[in-house]
Amino acid sequence: MRSVLITGATSGIGKKLAEDYARLGWQVIACGRNQEKLQQLSSLSTSVHCLQFDLTQREQTLAALSQLPLTPTLWILNAGDCEYIDDGVMDAKLMARVFEINVIGLANAIEGIQPHLSAGHRVAIVGSIASELALPRAEAYGASKAAVAYLANTLRLDWSQREIAVSTIFPGFVATPLTDKNTFNMPMIVTAEQASQRIRHGLERGQDCIYFPRRFTWIIRCLGVLPYSWQHRLIRRFFRT
Ligand SMILES: NC(=O)c1ccc[n+]([C@@H]2O[C@H](COP(=O)([O-])OP(=O)(O)OC[C@H]3O[C@@H](n4cnc5c(N)ncnc54)[C@H](OP(=O)(O)O)[C@@H]3O)[C@@H](O)[C@H]2O)c1
Repeated sequence: MRSVLITGATSGIGKKLAEDYARLGWQVIACGRNQEKLQQLSSLSTSVHCLQFDLTQREQTLAALSQLPLTPTLWILNAGDCEYIDDGVMDAKLMARVFEINVIGLANAIEGIQPHLSAGHRVAIVGSIASELALPRAEAYGASKAAVAYLANTLRLDWSQREIAVSTIFPGFVATPLTDKNTFNMPMIVTAEQASQRIRHGLERGQDCIYFPRRFTWIIRCLGVLPYSWQHRLIRRFFRT
């Protein structure tokens, strides 16, 4: 039976992935902080095992990940959070909170899983398309996801000799509790079901980089090659800020 560990499995994209993999007969190790939501997930099927820990707490993360009920071959490091900077006014505490979960939390997870990794395993790291272009109010989130993409792409290089594959996932907007709080226009937003489908399909095909939705990715890339003055004008119009 195939098996997967998913961080951030209590909500949004991670929850949908956990439900879908369980439905498809995989053994799932679902990770999160919220015990009630973890219990709901484990009641879905006997193939869902739950681990509760806070990824920003290194010792807690290493301890939890040292006691896995089984060794998965697919590891989806998805947990993350988003906070926006208002009116371009820097808030270093906000910046630290976002980096603490998105970057340091990811590093804690990688440190925790690395003793279990061996040839043939795949580690999938959830970044964001926001890392590819400067978007309004995304000073903290976009910068953290740029760090995530760099980290993931570098691990791919360094782990290739050990035959451990790394996939970087670059979602556009996905309707989840994380984006429910956004008050701005979110062009071409997809459902968590669509996100799960696209991620699972890309991982099954062994893709190094998984981008979705396709048209939104294409627009972001086109904007990215324009002169900065054009980019800024078009981005403001596109996101209606
Ligand atoms: N939604 C989008 O439009 C979008 C777009 C691009 C990229 N992404 C990325 O996709 C990933 C999932 O996002 P989502 O939209 O599904 O968000 P979400 O619904 O808010 O879910 C976030 C998940 O991360 C977990 N998490 C947060 N802080 C944690 C911590 N300190 N320790 C352990 N777990 C923690 C949460 O667990 P608990 O609730 O149990 O604490 C939850 O399961 C994130 O990395 C996000 O940046 C999302």
